[in-house]
Amino acid sequence: MTGVPHGGAPEGGRYGEAVFPPERAGEDERIDSGALAYDGFSMARLRALGVGPGWTCLDVGAGTGTLARRLLDEAGVASVLAVDRDVRFLPPRPGLDVRAADVTAPDFAPGTFRLVHARFVLMHLAERERLVSSLAELVAPGGVLVLSDAVDLTSDRTPDTPYTVAMRAMWQGLRATIGTDVSVVPAYPHLLHGAGLERVAAEIHVPPLQPGSPISRFWAETWERSRAAMLATGAVDDATLDEAVRYLDSAACAALSAGMLTAWGWKPDARPQR
Ligand SMILES: C[S@@+](CC[C@H](N)C(=O)[O-])C[C@H]1O[C@@H](n2cnc3c(N)ncnc32)[C@H](O)[C@@H]1O
Repeated sequence: MTGVPHGGAPEGGRYGEAVFPPERAGEDERIDSGALAYDGFSMARLRALGVGPGWTCLDVGAGTGTLARRLLDEAGVASVLAVDRDVRFLPPRPGLDVRAADVTAPDFAPGTFRLVHARFVLMHLAERERLVSSLAELVAPGGVLVLSDAVDLTSDRTPDTPYTVAMRAMWQGLRATIGTDVSVVPAYPHLLHGAGLERVAAEIHVPPLQPGSPISRFWAETWERSRAAMLATGAVDDATLDEAVRYLDSAACAALSAGMLTAWGWKPDARPQR
């Protein structure tokens, strides 16, 4: 296993290359803002699925490791292996093993785990459908695969506010550059079922967009980092983008954030039935 990207790179390079390079100042704070907005929902779901003492966990694309640490500190799991292409934001600590690896590499085989978790990772990777199957193979019998990714909640009927214009340009720009595609996210339950998992289910959570909230900071930072990709779509210009950032932080902001869909499925338990 290596940290070297595998497979054909999209036009603008892969995640972390042209857009969201980890070496750019503040990238850890941007990831932390997203984590702050969604960690509570993720932890509540993982606890409801029974994740707790004795569990071995794999967190794929672990980012700054907020969830890995909460699994250890709050859920009391036995261990977490946190894997990312770039592990500069992941200091190891007791119970937390850290590994630099590209999860799309064919030789990515870190063992099997009772929980395999990936949040805001697959949507950025072109091989996402194959990856659902390969991540399912890393789940131990009786264990669970939990996938979370963004769902775009703007529609043709959503009024053109600075927010919706910027949001649409962002999805379009990220798709054209690094290959991000959130249109497939609502199909995750179907993909989990197709990967041989059972008792599949899913839910969506949407953090409220309020001035100064972590999710508002996250979108403002994300637009700043993907500004060139957004402008290249022609759907937004610099002035509108600046207006969208001000709108996010204003009392006039009346918009629905993108949501987080979490889907999960269980690996059949191979133990003979008594
Ligand atoms: C948007 S961040 C999400 C971080 C974390 N999962 C969270 O929800 O806070 C995406 C993470 O996936 C990592 N990543 C992207 N492509 C990857 C790949 N092919 N293999 C391993 N990690 C990858 C990035 O380096 C980044 O840390």
